Amino acid sequence: MEFDFLVIGSGPGGYVAAIRAAQLGLSTAVVEKNERFGGTCLNIGCIPSKALLDASELYARLRERGSGAGGHNLESLGIKVGKLELDLTTMMARKQQVVEKLTSGVDQLFKGNGVKTFNGVGRFVDRGKVEVGSADGEKQTLSAKNVVLATGSVPATLPIFPVGKDGFLTSTEALSLEEVPARMIVIGAGAIGLELGSVWARLGAEVTVIELLDQILPGMDSEISRRTRSILGKQGLQIITGTRVLGYDKAGREKSGKGKSSTRDRGKDKAGTTGSQGVILTAEGKDGKKQQFPADVVLVAVGRHPYSEGLGLVELGVETEERSGRVVVDESFRTSLDGVYAIGDLIHGPMLAHKAEEEGIAAAEIAAGRPGEVNYRTIPSVVYTWPEVASVGKSEEDLKQEGVAYHKGTFPFRANGRALAMASEDGLVKILADKRTDRVLGVHIVGPWASDLIAEAVAVMEFGGSAEDIARSVHAHPTLPEALREAALDADGRAIHILSRKKS
Ligand code: NAI
Repeated sequence: MEFDFLVIGSGPGGYVAAIRAAQLGLSTAVVEKNERFGGTCLNIGCIPSKALLDASELYARLRERGSGAGGHNLESLGIKVGKLELDLTTMMARKQQVVEKLTSGVDQLFKGNGVKTFNGVGRFVDRGKVEVGSADGEKQTLSAKNVVLATGSVPATLPIFPVGKDGFLTSTEALSLEEVPARMIVIGAGAIGLELGSVWARLGAEVTVIELLDQILPGMDSEISRRTRSILGKQGLQIITGTRVLGYDKAGREKSGKGKSSTRDRGKDKAGTTGSQGVILTAEGKDGKKQQFPADVVLVAVGRHPYSEGLGLVELGVETEERSGRVVVDESFRTSLDGVYAIGDLIHGPMLAHKAEEEGIAAAEIAAGRPGEVNYRTIPSVVYTWPEVASVGKSEEDLKQEGVAYHKGTFPFRANGRALAMASEDGLVKILADKRTDRVLGVHIVGPWASDLIAEAVAVMEFGGSAEDIARSVHAHPTLPEALREAALDADGRAIHILSRKKS
């Protein structure tokens, strides 16, 4: 069978590319090795994690501690609830229903757009020729003028920790635990570590996050990162930075040269709800001091690797970066092999679903002979803790390093009427604008629904707008976006609802 456009992988990059190509009149096919379409994001990433984050946040609000609503539990809002019970089985089943609804939605979209689908592992056998091997051993070869590699990424692991054994998990398993662990260690304070750490902490686990670097969410504007750490800390997440994990021992057994676990810790192991005896992790701080951390489960969340195994890229001479394994592409997403494109987690840039989607659209448009490009300066990133963290553009550290003169406006949610009314006043908005032109260079938010609020900043930046443009735009009252407007006003020293100092 011959196609104009063949996509390998049906994650947000691949399925969006296929739909766009079909819209443009290209005969299009998708090869997917998994039973369900949607890739990591829909099946074992963005979507199931959000289903658990939203459900666990509701549960946390109902609990005495009231982690979510800025320290407010429901009783302080005048709402009394009776006996609260967690039904994890139902929570997990509902998460799966959400996944199935969305993945079957992709199937419907393929059918509606006339995209042909092939279930099996795709492998290049020659230029423009992809062999699809199905689970029952059958093979067929498809031909295509344009092939898009959209095979995504897999969790990175640490060689010292055997994921799948002794309670070591990747995000995939951490999304499907059958019981709430008594103690969870999370290695890595990136998006996955903080989101899944939050889920299990809200559901009752004692969660400790160990991060190698000095700040959580490395790369994030450091003021926002510090504030997020302090808020999550108040919710009971224990966060330890600047600490390297060295190894582990099974609980109850000692490893030579590494300290002993305390009796108290061993007692706790027995109380673990996962049924496992647990492990004792050894870690070392910057001062060289060793510390031990007992845990029932350990989530390893130290990043992800591009996934191109078995595609036959080496055999065909498709260029990849030696260290990272990323496929090398030009600005049109073309690899070193004629007619082969690559997008998403497989190539440079942040490993984010929406970035992959935009690249998928651009690749399809380019293959159809149209211009297609992605504006990498305005890709938002969001961490779905509560409050949420969202950012777009340059951080203060970036601007200092690049020697760009900027002015800054901030506004705390505690001075925003809507945030107070919804009892979610933790956090702030920060706007960084060019000192000379006032053009918005970066917006960073930790606060309620920051994931939605960042969209205004993205739109303004996409149009090359200024802080003054945000300040002069009418924002409905009382709403959370008013915090963005006030931060824009503050950049010029004229915020209304805080004492704003005239900036020099
Ligand atoms: P990440 O790269 O965001 O964070 C990994 C963290 O682990 C970093 O802070 C790093 O310094 C730390 N680390 C690395 N080695 C370590 C070690 N040996 N000991 C302790 N800490 C160590 O990776 P993460 O969170 O695993 O996510 C993977 C990818 O998926 C990322 O690209 C992320 O952007 C994406 N993702 C995005 C989400 C979102 O947008 N909400 C949600 C989940 C994942």
